[in-house]
Amino acid sequence: MPAAVAENPKIKATSAIPYTLYFGTFIHTPELTTSEICFNTLVGVDSRGEIDYIEKDFEPADGQSPVEYFKEQKKMSCQPQGGSEIDDENIVFVDYTSEPAKFFFPGFIDTHIHASQFPNIGIGLDTPLLDWLNTYTFPLELQFSVKDQSEQEAKFKFAKHVYSKVIQATLENGTTCASYFTAIDAGTTNLFADLLVEMGQRGYVGKVCMDHNEPCPAYSESLETCRKSMDSIISHISKVNPPREHLVEPIVTPRFAPVCSTPMLDYLGEISARDNLPIQTHISENKQEIELVAELFPDCESYAQVYNKHHLLTKRTILAHAIHLTQKECDLVAEKQCSISHCPTSNTFISSGEAPVYKYLYQDKINVSLGTDISGGFDVSILAMVKYAILVSHHLSMKPAQANGVDCKLSMTDGLYMATMGGARAVGLANLVGSFAVGKRFDAQLIDLDVQGARTDVFSWQVPKSGDLLPVKEKKMEDLLGKWIFSGDDRNCVSVWCNGRLVIDKRKPTKN
Ligand code: GUN
Ligand code: FE
Repeated sequence: MPAAVAENPKIKATSAIPYTLYFGTFIHTPELTTSEICFNTLVGVDSRGEIDYIEKDFEPADGQSPVEYFKEQKKMSCQPQGGSEIDDENIVFVDYTSEPAKFFFPGFIDTHIHASQFPNIGIGLDTPLLDWLNTYTFPLELQFSVKDQSEQEAKFKFAKHVYSKVIQATLENGTTCASYFTAIDAGTTNLFADLLVEMGQRGYVGKVCMDHNEPCPAYSESLETCRKSMDSIISHISKVNPPREHLVEPIVTPRFAPVCSTPMLDYLGEISARDNLPIQTHISENKQEIELVAELFPDCESYAQVYNKHHLLTKRTILAHAIHLTQKECDLVAEKQCSISHCPTSNTFISSGEAPVYKYLYQDKINVSLGTDISGGFDVSILAMVKYAILVSHHLSMKPAQANGVDCKLSMTDGLYMATMGGARAVGLANLVGSFAVGKRFDAQLIDLDVQGARTDVFSWQVPKSGDLLPVKEKKMEDLLGKWIFSGDDRNCVSVWCNGRLVIDKRKPTKN
C-alpha cells in the first residue's frame, strides 16, 4: 500500500475498529425464500470488522448488563482461531432495543453501476439503447480520458468530482459493496479505486474495454492500449487494497460484444483465468443490440455463446440486464453458474423490456442480483431497485401471454434477497457479506422508520411491543418492511458500516 494511504487517518478503509457489541433487531434474508427477523439480538464485531459473536433473543436477567453477560460468555467459550483479543475495558456498546422502529439490515450490493455516468441521471428517457449510448453516454465517458499530460490535472479534478459524488450517494443509500464500470481510461480508473479506499466502500473496479466503436471512434482503444491499462489497474489496485482484505478489486469488463473484437474477447477471457478475476458485461438488453451481435458474430449461435466461446462465462461473471435470453441461453448461464444483474429502472427508462426474473430464480435456478445501472437507471438506491423489481414483476404477471403460465410476482423476500445475498453471490463474496453470520464481515445499515423528515409514517400500534407474542411481533415487522420498501428512502438509512467501520452516520432524533 502506498505510504500516503497507509498513514493517512482520513482513509476510512484502514481506520482502527474498536470491538463493538450491537444490540437490537437484526433482519436478513440468508436464503432465497427466507427472511429472518431476530429481536433482542447481540452481535459482536471484532477489530478486523468480523462478526465473532451472535446471540438471538437475549433477555437480560434482572439487573444484568448485556456487556457483562457477553464478557462471561466470551470467557467461557474458546476464542475462534485467529480471532482478535478483546480488550475488556474498551468494548463499545450500541443498544437500539428501546427503539422498535429501528433495525439492522445487511448493506446493499449493487451489481451493476456506471460511476462515470452519474452526471447523466434522468437524461435520455425512452431513447433506445444504441442511440442512447451514442447521444448521451459515450460523449460523457470520453470526458474522463486523459489524452496528454497537459490535461491530466483538469481531467483528474473532473473525475474526482463525479466519482466522489457517486460513492457518497451510494453509501448514503446503504450500498456497502458495488460492482462498478468506470470509463475507458486507466488513470481516472485508478483514481476511482483510491476514492473507494478513502471513503471506505467495498467495490469492484472495471475499466470498460472496447477496441472498436464505429458510431464514436474517438471512444475506443487498441488492444495494446487496453492491455497496458489493465496491467496498470491490476497493479495499482493490488497496492491500494488493504492487505488480506476484499475491499477493492479489479473486475474484467468487456463493455459488451458489439464493441469488442474477437482478439480482445480472447485476451479478456485469458486474464480473467490467469489472475482469477471476476468478469462483468452486458447481455441481451435490447432487440436491436441482439441483431447487431448476430451480424458481428455469425459463427456463434447466440449472444451468450459469444461470451462462452471466449471463456467469459464463469461462476464469477455478472451479466447485466439479460432481458431477452432464449431458453438455451438460460440453460447455458445456469450451467456456467453466472449471475444476472437485474436492472429494473434502466430497463424501463430506456424501454429495453421486462426481464422474467421470477423464472430465472425459480425455474432456471440462476442467481439474480440487483443493479441500479446508473445512468440507464435513474436511481442510486438498491432499496428502490427492490421496489421496482417487484412492480415490474407484477406488470409481467398481468400479461398472461408473456407470463407463459409461470408465476411472475416477486415477493419482498425475493427482492431483499437479490439486494443482499444474491449480490454477495454475484460478486463472489457469499462467505463474507450479504447476511449476518459468525465469520462474516459487518457490512450493515441501521434503518430508522421513525426518523425525522422521513416519508415513512409509522403509527404506534404498528410497532412491535415487548408484551406482544412473537408471531404478532413478526407480523408487525413484516408490515414495517413493506413500509420501508415502498415508502422508504435514504433518509431511513441512518448509519452504514463497511467492514465493521462506520462510514456514514446521519443519526437524528426520532420524530416523537
Ligand atoms: N450496453 C453497453 N454499454 C452500456 C451502458 O453503458 N449502459 C447500458 N445500460 N447498456 C450498455
Ligand atoms: Fe449498464
